[in-house]
Order: sequence, then structure tokens, then C-alpha cells
Amino acid sequence: MDKLTDYKDATSYNNFYEFGTDKGDPVKNAGTLKTRPWTVEVEGLVKKPGKYGIEDLLKLSAQEERIYRLRCVEGWSMVIPWVGYSLAELIKKVEPQGNAKFIEFVTLADPKTMPFVGSRVLDWPYTEGLRMDEAMHPLTLLAFGMYGEVLPNQNGAPVRLVVPWKYGFKSAKSIVKIRFVKKEPSTAWNKAAAQEYGFYSNVNPNVDHPRWSQATERRIGDGGGLFAKRNKTLMFNGYEAQVGQLYAGMDLKKNY
Ligand code: MTE
Repeated sequence: MDKLTDYKDATSYNNFYEFGTDKGDPVKNAGTLKTRPWTVEVEGLVKKPGKYGIEDLLKLSAQEERIYRLRCVEGWSMVIPWVGYSLAELIKKVEPQGNAKFIEFVTLADPKTMPFVGSRVLDWPYTEGLRMDEAMHPLTLLAFGMYGEVLPNQNGAPVRLVVPWKYGFKSAKSIVKIRFVKKEPSTAWNKAAAQEYGFYSNVNPNVDHPRWSQATERRIGDGGGLFAKRNKTLMFNGYEAQVGQLYAGMDLKKNY
């Protein structure tokens, strides 16, 4: 089993562009994020749309700890004990209609508490999406905590996704809307640079990012700076046995 990333590293080396683009910005700036009251609006092609308060979401299903690797598209990874339940539990409760093929996740964009939401790095709000079968896969986690505690703001409080076989940017933080749709939704990083970030974004050592190789990764906390030892990146981040079937017959070079 992989060694857990130190809590300090996992909570001080973050990507959360609403609070700045440097890894150390979110821990410094995310104190302003107000996580209560918090509602997640479920809308679109479902039989039970509505506003779900965070307290109700927390109680909707039994939470458990899941140790997942998170592989960032930038070439580093962490091993984090998340706390939450499968997104599938929520999906089943809201009863998707037959024509719902994708889910779009919309995250908070509040210029009052998020200093970089006015910046042009991304088109806010940060949005992400999954195909319905990916969203229903038991590995896809709706996370409320990590290391046995509630999520720190910089890690996406009060509720985020963790999709461990995809690059980290698919794991949207501080979700406010879950929308069931017919067509593949656009996503923040795809809008920003379509050649570099596709809809699927499955971890794939055989498909290079246009500006760097994805064959290896650096485990945060291993030390060594520029000369840190690098580990081989595994297909689907090591979850191939569980999720490979979802992509049977698909050209993963085209569907990057
Ligand atoms: N969610 C929002 N709302 N904004 C972001 O900038 N960054 C993504 C993802 N979710 C991001 C986000 C990226 S690039 C990564 S690698 C992970 O969050 C990082 O999660 P962590 O800081 O908990 O490791």
C-alpha cells in the first residue's frame, strides 16, 4: 500500500484557482470561503430536482474512508484518505431520467470571498463533467472530509468530487450545482485549452500532454526538488481493473 501523503503537504500544496494560481495561495486565501449555509442544487433531467442542504447531503448515505491516489495533470501525485460516499448514492436518490447521459458539476464563483474569480485564468464558474456511467461508478466519490476531518477550505469544502482514475482537475471543489444533461457538457479546462485538456482526461501514461510527458510522476513529500525520484504513472492511475471496461472500444488517444 502506498504511504499516505503528510496532512500538511495535502493541505498546503493545492490547486484551487479561485484563490490564486500558486500552490501556496489556497491555504493562505481560502479562509474567506463560507461553507455554511451551503446548498447543492440538483437540476435538469431528474425526477427529483431540488435544493439539497449540506446537512442533508452529509446524512444521505453512510460515509467511509477511501484511500485514493490523486494524480495531477502537472505531473505530481498524492495519496489521500478521503471521507465520503459514492456519488452513485446521490444519483440514485434523485432518479435520473432515461435521457440523462452526462452530469455537469458547477462550483462556487463568489467574487466576494474568492479573490481570483475576477481574473481571466479561467472562465468562471469552474465546471466539470462526467459521463453517466463514470458518475455512477462506485469509485467516484462525493467527498466531505479527509484524514478523518471535514475538508479544509483549500481542499474544496464543504463538498467536492474525487475521481481517482482521472487527472486531478476533474475532481471539482466546492460544488453548488449538479446538473443532469443530454449532451457532453463543456468543462473549464477544456474551454481554456482544448488541445491540452479533453473531456475524458483519464490518467494515461501513453498520451503525452502537448507540452510534457505523462509517463512519470513525482510523489509530493518525497523530497529531492528537481532531482526527486519519479514513479511510473499507471494507466487509469492504477485503477484499470476497476474502470477499464467503461472505455472498451474507445480510442483513448482521440478521447484524451
Ligand atoms: N476545483 C475548483 N473549483 N477549482 C480549481 O482550481 N483545481 C483542480 C481540482 N478541483 C480546481 C478544482 C485541480 S487542477 C486539482 S489537481 C485538484 O482540484 C487538486 O485538489 P487538492 O488541492 O485537494 O489536491
